[in-house]
Amino acid sequence: MKIPEKIVKRIESLREQLNYHNILYYVYDTPEITDSEYDRLLRELQELEKEYPQTITPDSPTQRVGSSPLKSFGEVSHKIPMLSLANAMNEEELRDFDRKVRENLDTDLVNYAAEPKMDGLAVSLVYEKGVLVRGATRGDGSTGEDITQNVRTIKSVPLHLIGKRIPDLLEVRGEVFMPIKGFQELNDRALKEGSKTFANPRNAAAGSLRQLDPAVTATRPLDMICYGIGETANVHLPALYSEVIDWLASLGLRVSPERTVVVGAEQCLEYYKDLSARRARLPYEIDGIVFKVNDLAQQEKLGFVSRAPRWAIAHKFPAQEEMTILRSVDFQVGRTGAITPVARLEPVSVGGVVVSNATLHNMDEIRRLDVRPGDTVIVRRAGDVIPQIVSVVLSRRSKGARQVKAPTKCPVCHSELIKPEGQTVIRCTGGLFCSAQRKELLKHFASRKAMDIDGLGDKLIDQLIDKDMVHSPAELYRLEKDQLASLDRMAEKSASRLIAALETSKKTNLERFIYALGIREVGEATARALVQHLSTLDAIMDADEEVLTGIPDVGPVVAANITGFFRQKHNRDVVRELLAMGVFWEQDRSAESHSDQLSGQSFVITGTLSAMSRTEARDALLLHGAKVTGSVSSKTDYLVAGEKSGSKLSKAEQLGIRILDESAFLQLLDSLK
Ligand code: IVH
Repeated sequence: MKIPEKIVKRIESLREQLNYHNILYYVYDTPEITDSEYDRLLRELQELEKEYPQTITPDSPTQRVGSSPLKSFGEVSHKIPMLSLANAMNEEELRDFDRKVRENLDTDLVNYAAEPKMDGLAVSLVYEKGVLVRGATRGDGSTGEDITQNVRTIKSVPLHLIGKRIPDLLEVRGEVFMPIKGFQELNDRALKEGSKTFANPRNAAAGSLRQLDPAVTATRPLDMICYGIGETANVHLPALYSEVIDWLASLGLRVSPERTVVVGAEQCLEYYKDLSARRARLPYEIDGIVFKVNDLAQQEKLGFVSRAPRWAIAHKFPAQEEMTILRSVDFQVGRTGAITPVARLEPVSVGGVVVSNATLHNMDEIRRLDVRPGDTVIVRRAGDVIPQIVSVVLSRRSKGARQVKAPTKCPVCHSELIKPEGQTVIRCTGGLFCSAQRKELLKHFASRKAMDIDGLGDKLIDQLIDKDMVHSPAELYRLEKDQLASLDRMAEKSASRLIAALETSKKTNLERFIYALGIREVGEATARALVQHLSTLDAIMDADEEVLTGIPDVGPVVAANITGFFRQKHNRDVVRELLAMGVFWEQDRSAESHSDQLSGQSFVITGTLSAMSRTEARDALLLHGAKVTGSVSSKTDYLVAGEKSGSKLSKAEQLGIRILDESAFLQLLDSLK
């Protein structure tokens, strides 16, 4: 059957549009259409392809995940070898590198292209006439593995290049990595499901790329940044490396947003310092800076030594992994009774920060690592992630090293422990009888997003529980000034202030109150959903699981947690006592002034506001259906910027996001009432 010309044209146009918008979204981070418009185009293409399957081409945006798992990976030989880099471990070695470059080129000052050294895996992509035809690992530099199926699933890898100057052949090289957030989510999921976690984002990226089933790779949050080229045909290259990278970017390939050109060793070191300072805040892991002589003619003149170019160097950051001794394993009890093992370590400096504790997650993790007190272990610290034990150095294990035993009783209150079917966590059944859980619950109850009791910090709560002065949240409101003044680090004045803060906290809203109760897995968003749909405390307390699962975002597990919580008499008593102590909110506040005038709009709040706290500002926006997030991205519609707004403000300015100062923000709120 002949396909009507009109349909062929439409299919081509849809593919072109989708490819373009995909690049705008995943590569340039500057989308021009909404997600729903994108979905509409995609659906139209899918439907046409279903009707006319003979039109499907491998570079169609619908074809990212190929059909079947492989038995093994094929081999790929790299005509131009994939090299490695020489390292500079300190300032002096970096200066040495620059000196040698200058001597060899017989010049005084050299321009260097500078960019982060991504901590992932080197990959080569081959584009023929703009179409991605092959992806390969570096392997030993001359032979790698064919991972075409897998690289195709990476959203920031275009299946089709864009732009006017598309070469006949272009081999692009870059690093495939896993962003930190995606890595954490992947591991959280694995922990919940009781499957294997990855030690670091690099291992996770490697494991994901080496999957024989591309459908699995497609579920992994991989990304790629390009930093060079290999084979080419019919290409007229520019004179500078930085121009090559700009050209790659114009073809729709992702390149480092941190790339720049510096002059001489001094500026190299400045760039190194600047990025070191920002390293922990980057959304991906880097292990150093790569400096490359920017002039391609100079690169050629310098040539290679063994397997590394003379024109480039990796200035490495201090290691994020160090060796130390595991002294012991303690078990801590969390707010909801979860028992978490904590590793107590011989203190060791990891990348400049002294680490003496590391999380071990749960007993399964201890078994997996087979870690034992006295063992030499490798600890790792990355970004603001809690330090972790990566592995045990088995060759250094002493003979008598004994396995860690799972506790049989709660280490704090000696209550029974339970391990629900299919779960990895062990829990204490003591509830508020367990002082550890009481402490954690009170800390949660007093926290800023819950009852917001100013001045009631963790240390004070520890004392209140240890001295047996408070047994439940309601009892906080019975405390008297003299009692408080008798505590460590408290005086008459601070005690009065705390009494006043307790008084102030009594006026709250229902969302905060529900959140403050500390029901397992009921965070702020769930609390808000409960109030929006059920309106009153009584309705929430009496809702059955059917009613609850009817609320968006409330699944069966959360619903069971909520009904289970309110079935317990002591929990109902806590609620009753809190109300009796004078905690209150205006019943219908949310129902009355609730609107959806801001629905679909995304806000970020930064800096200090004088008329209200950031939490209050957020509540006010949420009430009108806005989305409020923590970080500025191209998807942000408004930035509310108070006094002393820092990096979020500059990012928003860069992205051209609308900025509201406090008075503009108050005007907006006023207009909504
Ligand atoms: S350039 C001939 N640039 O580091 C130069 N490499 O030790 C080849 N890497 O195998 C590499 N970020 O996996 C270059 N911005 C960057 C890099 C980078 C990470 C990795 C790459 C390479 C290894 C070399």
